[in-house]
Amino acid sequence: MEVIILSDPEAVSRVAARIVAKCIREKPHAVLGLATGSTPVGLYRELVRLHRQDGLDFSRVTTFNLDEYVGLPPDHPQSYHSFMRSQLFEHINLRPDRAHVPDGLAQDIPQFCADYEAAIADAGGIDLQVLGIGSDGHIGFNEPSSSLASRTRIKTLTPQTLRDNARFFDDPSEQPHHVITMGIGSIMDSRQVLLLAFGEGKADAVAGAVEGPVGAMMPASALQFHPRAHILIDEPASTKLTRAAYYRWVYEQKPAWQRH
Ligand code: GLP
Repeated sequence: MEVIILSDPEAVSRVAARIVAKCIREKPHAVLGLATGSTPVGLYRELVRLHRQDGLDFSRVTTFNLDEYVGLPPDHPQSYHSFMRSQLFEHINLRPDRAHVPDGLAQDIPQFCADYEAAIADAGGIDLQVLGIGSDGHIGFNEPSSSLASRTRIKTLTPQTLRDNARFFDDPSEQPHHVITMGIGSIMDSRQVLLLAFGEGKADAVAGAVEGPVGAMMPASALQFHPRAHILIDEPASTKLTRAAYYRWVYEQKPAWQRH
């Protein structure tokens, strides 16, 4: 794992955007895995800037989002379809038919999930997966006790995650308890992973993911088995890492050709 600790979310988002941009420039038909939540907002803003100012070209890129709420139509303001449109898709030249977000209204959910996995495989697999992390260590919506080999499927959110995300819903009765999410096995298949985390509320989850034992109670810890995982965090999110000084040292020593 590469752990990069920077002063603030803006600095982290700039480095993250450079990693995504490099992936697209090296492979114009790259397949990106995308995340929602407040964490990747700065990254998406930076990608829009790179598109507008530096001509970063998304015309051949394909995207697959991690998750969606079951029961929310794509035009619901809190759906992840709406989030992706307003934060990224409407501002770049990504072809709408290449932007995939799970269908929260799928009638046959197991079939939809199998088709979603097949679509990712047909596209050639995910080159770079963007991730946030829940305060309980979830990635996508893979809550603690999720199988580390899980594939895309329906999950029930924990009360903790419902509380964490309640701020987005004006009417609590509209907040779904079920989601469709790519599995931990699906995420592990991606060729490169970029996990972002900000704030002290994520410090325990980050420490568990990076330094804790690998286990289903800390889903993000599965990334310790990923050969190319970058963990990009701000100072407050780094405070529970026992080896923070070492990660900073490694980053400072990075040879020029390895810098992001
Ligand atoms: C949500 C999303 C995750 C996200 C996490 C953290 O539940 N499904 O993909 O990483 O919660 O959210 P935030 O970035 O708002 O802290």
